[in-house]
Amino acid sequence: MRAIITGIGHFVPEQRLTNADLEKMVDTNDEWITSRTGIKERRILEKDKGTSYMAVQAAKMILEQKHISADEIDLILLATITPDLMVPSAASIVQKELGANHCWGFDINGGCTGFLYALATGAQFIETGRHKKILVIGADKMSSILNYQDRNTCIIFGDGAGAALLEPSTDNDLGIHDFEMHLDGVGVQYLCVEAGGSLRPATHETVDKKMHFLYQDGKTVFKHAVIGMSDVSKRIVDKHHLSGKDIKLLIPHQANYRIIDAVAKKLDLAPEQIVINIEKYGNTTAGTIPIAMSEAYQQQRMKKGDWILLSAFGAGFTWGSMLLKWAMD
Ligand code: COA
Repeated sequence: MRAIITGIGHFVPEQRLTNADLEKMVDTNDEWITSRTGIKERRILEKDKGTSYMAVQAAKMILEQKHISADEIDLILLATITPDLMVPSAASIVQKELGANHCWGFDINGGCTGFLYALATGAQFIETGRHKKILVIGADKMSSILNYQDRNTCIIFGDGAGAALLEPSTDNDLGIHDFEMHLDGVGVQYLCVEAGGSLRPATHETVDKKMHFLYQDGKTVFKHAVIGMSDVSKRIVDKHHLSGKDIKLLIPHQANYRIIDAVAKKLDLAPEQIVINIEKYGNTTAGTIPIAMSEAYQQQRMKKGDWILLSAFGAGFTWGSMLLKWAMD
């Protein structure tokens, strides 16, 4: 039995932070940001709301689309690196807000690969026959861990959430065919939030030293991301005796236009085969793939039976690729 995506939704906050806005905050400019990353603007969630707020909105879109009650959900998997609280999980808050009274669930910290980690995890619970309706959400309020005086990071990230509903397929050819996921702790030092965890709990010193903000060595992350995402994407396509022309859409993690371009070149994909929305939202971490998938669905860019390739790279380092046959009409 395969797991299929039967519902898809997303939410992005109203407030826009444009490159022109950032020019007033740090020493940067629209030309640099656009040419190096492809980003024009990002969305910023209100200060008094947490990641779970966006996750709930994305999930509600699916419940409305499918005309199902939250009580039918039996598992909530929430990929995020910016949970509302240290304890308990943001999944707990989502459960309560949705009123999903017959489920269990937890957060998954897989950085920018988080949504793929969560989809892969959810697929296992469907394939065993254990669960029937799993809500897989990717959501991050990156503005909550960004230093808006650090031009290396604040220009890249934004806030947003996306969600997918996983169910068992009755047609064995549709759904998630394969995935290949990786984790390599060599990346810890290059992309991290140094304080606030058990190693360095919050102190006045950690706050003064801005250690609760995201640190990134962009160049190193970039190099690993290009190689990691390109190689894993090519390997999974080759493994299934497919080529670039068999893939209807590549829905990649949206971190940098140049990284996506490298993956597309490796697979020999044409522009119309790639979903890119980075110019509107920047990097929403676990949110990028489900947001892009939801928008592509709304734009009717895939039809039942199309091969879809998902690919991501993020903090950890984490990276991976998933190959699925689209199951929605
Ligand atoms: N505006 C203007 N100049 C900037 C800048 C900004 N926002 N940020 C950095 N610069 C400067 C640097 O100081 C450097 O100047 P120097 O040559 O005088 O030292 C120059 O631009 C080049 O910086 P560099 O860091 O080498 O740029 P880059 O081409 O590697 O692009 C990133 C930087 C962050 C956009 C890029 O490395 C990247 O996308 N990395 C991966 C991001 C990512 O995927 N992160 C999430 C995990 S998925």
